[in-house]
Amino acid sequence: MSAMKLLILPGDGIGPEVMAEVRKVIDWLGANKGLAFEVEEDLVGGASYDAHGTPLTDEAMAKAQAVDAVLLGAVGGPKWEKLDFSVKPERGLLRLRKEMDLYANLRPAQCFDALADFSSLKKEVVSGLDIMIVRELTSGVYFGEPRGIVEEGNERVGINTHRYTESEIARVARSAFELARKRGNRVCSMEKHNVMEAGILWHDVVEEVHKAEYSDVELSHMLADAGAMQLVRWPKQFDVIVTDNLFGDILSDCAAMLTGSLGMLPSASLGAPMENGRPKALYEPVHGTAPDIAGQGKANPIACILSFAMALRYSFDLGAEADALEKAVEAVLAKGIRTADLGAAEGSTPASTSEMGDAIIAELAG
Ligand code: IPM
Ligand code: MG
Repeated sequence: MSAMKLLILPGDGIGPEVMAEVRKVIDWLGANKGLAFEVEEDLVGGASYDAHGTPLTDEAMAKAQAVDAVLLGAVGGPKWEKLDFSVKPERGLLRLRKEMDLYANLRPAQCFDALADFSSLKKEVVSGLDIMIVRELTSGVYFGEPRGIVEEGNERVGINTHRYTESEIARVARSAFELARKRGNRVCSMEKHNVMEAGILWHDVVEEVHKAEYSDVELSHMLADAGAMQLVRWPKQFDVIVTDNLFGDILSDCAAMLTGSLGMLPSASLGAPMENGRPKALYEPVHGTAPDIAGQGKANPIACILSFAMALRYSFDLGAEADALEKAVEAVLAKGIRTADLGAAEGSTPASTSEMGDAIIAELAG
């Protein structure tokens, strides 16, 4: 196998803490499984702004383009809230997504048995849940032009443009259909064709791709607002959901909470294959920087560790190793080991970030 190159961008808030646990897993795999990753590290978000005056330097961007996979922690926080929009921490992440052309964002929502009681929904609604949201990540209202805040008459107007081309819709639809074939073989596409022309086009292009290339997969459509309602009513009806950038942002936070905690959800952002056959890829937890608990060793590293498991699977074809890591997480949870966000048992002290990482590695070591 050719060298496996990683760029780690820990970012802000709890990003560096949770990423430190991923580093332990990487080192363990190197020492015990002969998996030699080449690891570089750089800054992104507020951390990069503080050091360089920009949320992502051109050097860091070039490194991201040159590796097999980028592992990102989280970006943003109150410290940088007042900055000009163009240098906000989030712009660093959006630049990575756009310039690497990571159009398919995979956000699996799986409910571990041990956590079914902890969801805000009834146990029977979430236990055994295993759905995959495929969010379009490089277009739509996040990037459409024109955009800005302009003067019109004697008031200001905020403008963003929701825009999708046929090819942008078709390629993310293909990603969803391909994934469905390896899972439950069902795709539900969500948009709002009742109020948006771009929604009509979304609906039609998904239908066309389905008819021409994936008629073996079961396809349904739902308006995105109804989809949000169905996600909390009976989420197990879904297998793969495919949707645009903004709806996907919202629906995936909603799906994340079904599993008990935002601290559990990983994600993979994939683009076209590179010369070595591996896809352009960035892996990051769905959660944010949690500034209220940053630096206290309380954060749950599981979402970040599971994001690395997705890297093993999707970038390096190491499915068995990814399974082992996911099983280790499951086993640790089954033993009742909990970080604070997962509600430790009455009278017991919650596990710290590093205790959780150590427990997962101990489980891997078997
Ligand atoms: C996400 C986040 C980002 C987004 C922010 C940090 C820019 O909420 O990845 O879901 O809106 O895409
Ligand atoms: Mg989000």
